[in-house]
Amino acid sequence: MRGHRVWAEIDLTALRRNIAVVRSEVGRRTRIMAVVKADAYGHGAVQISNHALAAGCDALGVGDSAEALELRDSGITRPILILGAIIEEEIPQVVEYDVAVSVHSSDLLDLLDREARRQHRLLRVHLKIDTGMGRLGASPARAAEIAREIVSRRNLELEGLCTHLSSVASANGAYTRQQLDRFQEAVAELDRLGLRPPIIHVANSVGLFTFREAHFDMVRTGITLYGLGPGLFARLNLSLHPILSLKTRIAFLKNVPEESAIGYDQSYVTPKATRIATCPVGYNDGYPRLLTNRAFALVRGRRVPVVGTVTMDYIMLDVGDLEEAGVGDEVTLVGRDGLEEIRLEELARTIGTIPYELTCGFGRRVRRVYLETPDLPAVARKPIETPLSLRACGS
Ligand SMILES: Cc1ncc(COP(=O)(O)O)c(C=O)c1O
Repeated sequence: MRGHRVWAEIDLTALRRNIAVVRSEVGRRTRIMAVVKADAYGHGAVQISNHALAAGCDALGVGDSAEALELRDSGITRPILILGAIIEEEIPQVVEYDVAVSVHSSDLLDLLDREARRQHRLLRVHLKIDTGMGRLGASPARAAEIAREIVSRRNLELEGLCTHLSSVASANGAYTRQQLDRFQEAVAELDRLGLRPPIIHVANSVGLFTFREAHFDMVRTGITLYGLGPGLFARLNLSLHPILSLKTRIAFLKNVPEESAIGYDQSYVTPKATRIATCPVGYNDGYPRLLTNRAFALVRGRRVPVVGTVTMDYIMLDVGDLEEAGVGDEVTLVGRDGLEEIRLEELARTIGTIPYELTCGFGRRVRRVYLETPDLPAVARKPIETPLSLRACGS
């Protein structure tokens, strides 16, 4: 990409295809919430949200009020739910911007109701139950009582009831079934009391494919949109593919003799005379320092090793076997070049993490460039660039 030092190419056609796979799984009657928290797992929340909605998603899930406000300020009017826990100071703006909130206890109900009344608005509330994730949510035993408290407030509407599954990727589904049983009991209790809200939602990405009974009225999906977990998806026989490639270019090339030290602390010493390419990407951009001497990049369709320490702004590659490499050459850190591919999963596995921890960490200098795959009907063929969006990362 001309003019860029380090950039993420995001394939909107692949995003649409991934959403179509989710839609065909859940059918037309179940809503799809696109989880775009943490700047859409680092892919750029505004662009991803617009395309996800255009591709048939029904609602957006964010981590906090700043993320919700960014989407509203960009002109998005469709339903947005804050999946996490809000704090008191966020209340006036979530009411003003018509953002639904998750509640986990009765603690904030008075404040929420009072603020909604002050602004002459109705605030939509989703009651979250902790069925075994152990992070947020009320205990199932208290669900009915809190639901009653919500509906008794004039300016609050109990729109949703939800829980979060903690162990859907585990081969043994026993824990998930336990969570679902606990949740079903709470739903039944609310039903008995005439308090069942219109949108019940439980399943995340893997859950929606492995536990059909968890579809209810809406699924909340993040990693399927981004194709983050192709190994897992392949095991489940799902045609979901990564939408992001991370690229940089060769900024500097030099020939070095045998036994040249490369990088801080001489962490690599060349075993023979070679050529070293220096590329403007480093751990500030989210390319982890732990990849020092442990990763590969693609140059002209060939794998070349990352040598020496990953520094804040630069990495070095040994391109000694690549006569034709030149300054300005595109370097693929994640993605495909010719027949070769480096998957985020490969990098994540190397350093003992998950692919989306890496995408969430891509920094402000990484330009997000949105593309359509040329062999399919295009919504916009020209790359669309957005200003750098907030660097944010939820958990
Ligand atoms: C409450 C909640 N629902 C849904 C999701 C989406 O999960 P996934 O990306 O696995 O689909 C998340 C993400 O962590 C979440 O926190």
